[in-house]
Amino acid sequence: MHSSFALPFLVVSLGQMALSFVLEGSATSYAQFRKWNAGLNGTLEFEFKTEQGNGLLLYTDDGGTYDFFEVKLVESALRLRYNLGGGAQIVTVGHDLGDGHWHKVQITRCNENTTLTVDGVSAVSTSRGKEFEFGKLAGNSDVYVGGMPSWYNSKLTLLALPSVIFEPRFNGLIRNLVYADGENTVPRRQEMKSRDAKCGGFPCVEGVKRKSPRVSTEERDSVFSVSRFCL
Ligand SMILES: *[C@@H]1O[C@H](CO)[C@@H](O)[C@H](O)[C@H]1NC(C)=O
Ligand SMILES: *[C@@H]1O[C@H](CO)[C@@H](O)[C@H](O)[C@H]1NC(C)=O
Repeated sequence: MHSSFALPFLVVSLGQMALSFVLEGSATSYAQFRKWNAGLNGTLEFEFKTEQGNGLLLYTDDGGTYDFFEVKLVESALRLRYNLGGGAQIVTVGHDLGDGHWHKVQITRCNENTTLTVDGVSAVSTSRGKEFEFGKLAGNSDVYVGGMPSWYNSKLTLLALPSVIFEPRFNGLIRNLVYADGENTVPRRQEMKSRDAKCGGFPCVEGVKRKSPRVSTEERDSVFSVSRFCL
C-alpha cells in the first residue's frame, strides 16, 4: 500500500507572457488559425483591445453549407451571429467595447445552447433543429481573425455567410485565443498558423507596402478558466 494525497488542481500561468498581435484594419489584414473543433460542447475565447466600435473579430464556417460563427463589434457592442443548421441566431452583449481597454470574449456551446460572454456578462441563445454539431471538422474552414483573406472574394460559394467579406476589418490588438483544434478536444492557446513566407506567420497584410508586423508582449496573463459545465 502506498499513501496517497491529493494535489490541489491549480491552473497557474507562471511567468507566461501573453503575446498580443496587431491587426491594422487595412483593406486586406487578417490572421489565420487552425480549425475550431467546436463539437457539441466546445469553447472558444480571446481578448481584444480597440478604439473602434465596428469590426469583424472572428469568423469560421463549415466550408459553405450552413454552419458558421461570426463575432463582430457593432457600435461598440459584441455580436455573435451563428448557425448550426436550424437557422441563423444573433446574440449581442456588452457596450462601449471600443474604449481602448482589454475585453475578454467567450463562446460556450452546450448542445442546442450557445452562450456569448464578454467580461463576465453572458447571453444565451438556443438553436432550433435536430443536430447541433458545427459542420464536419474535415470540411470546416480555418478560424479567421480580424478579416477574411481576399481569395474568398472569388470563391463566395465556400462561405456559409458570404456577407462576411464585406464586414469592416478589425483594427486593434488580439491575444489569448484559446480553443480545441483538430482531433484534440482540450482547449489550448492557438498560435497563428504559419503561412507562406510573405506573411511569415504573422497577420497577413496583402497588397502594397508590407510593413513588418508589430507583435507586442503585454502584461502577465490572466488565468484561463477552462471549466466546462455542459453535461
Ligand atoms: C438550454 O437552455 C434551456 C433554457 O435556458 C435549458 O432549459 C436547457 O436545459 C439547456 N440545454 C442544455 C443542453 O443545457
Ligand atoms: C464534451 O463532449 C465530449 C464528447 O461528446 C465528452 O466526452 C465530454 O465529456 C463533454 N464535456 C463536458 C464537460 O460536457
